[in-house]
Amino acid sequence: MTADERDKRQAIIDACRRMNALGINQGTSGNISLRHEDGLLVTPTSVPYDAMTPDQIVYMAMDGSHATSQKPSSEWRFHRDILKSRDDVNAVVHAHPTYCTILAIMGMDIPPVHYMIAAAGGDSIRCAPYATFGTAELSDHAVRALEGRLACLLDHHGMIAVGRSLDKAMWLAVEVETLARQYHGCLQIGKPPLLSSDEIERVRQRMAGYGMSDG
Ligand code: 13P
Repeated sequence: MTADERDKRQAIIDACRRMNALGINQGTSGNISLRHEDGLLVTPTSVPYDAMTPDQIVYMAMDGSHATSQKPSSEWRFHRDILKSRDDVNAVVHAHPTYCTILAIMGMDIPPVHYMIAAAGGDSIRCAPYATFGTAELSDHAVRALEGRLACLLDHHGMIAVGRSLDKAMWLAVEVETLARQYHGCLQIGKPPLLSSDEIERVRQRMAGYGMSDG
């Protein structure tokens, strides 16, 4: 194993632990992948992050094949399909953050309530329709909801954030949960006024020069 691969495996484990320490995930309900060579490195299924070791991270080819002794995340399909269909993406973070999941249970998109939504690539964060976890159907819904975007919600499930790097995807995952929390808070008061699509596009262009966006 090269030093680069070892570093990537460790970075995935560190990010998993950070996800739980930050409170954006619980238990082993999240999973993370990182592009590597012609395939991806993805977390194993149902291994507690504190016990996860670099050799347990699964290398998967883009056709879904992997060492038979290993068990990839039950959500390997959407990790593989997102990385396969998006050459602007190298890292995929999936978690069940509480406020994202509350909105996702309600089947709600996040509208432009705050200019930071532009960091997710556009004027909304879409909620992908429900499908059973681990299915090709869920993966198709996720890829579609991520079109032109770097994050989406998954109905009755959670959230996906992607990025050019794992650090950027993790940063965005935290930001999306913040936006979900802000939107949820606004809804307690009433119907929040929204920013226009033109304004979000202006912000997006400004962010490109500021280092906040991935675009
Ligand atoms: P793992 O299979 O990666 O442990 O994850 C469960 C999950 O997030 C289902 O959505």
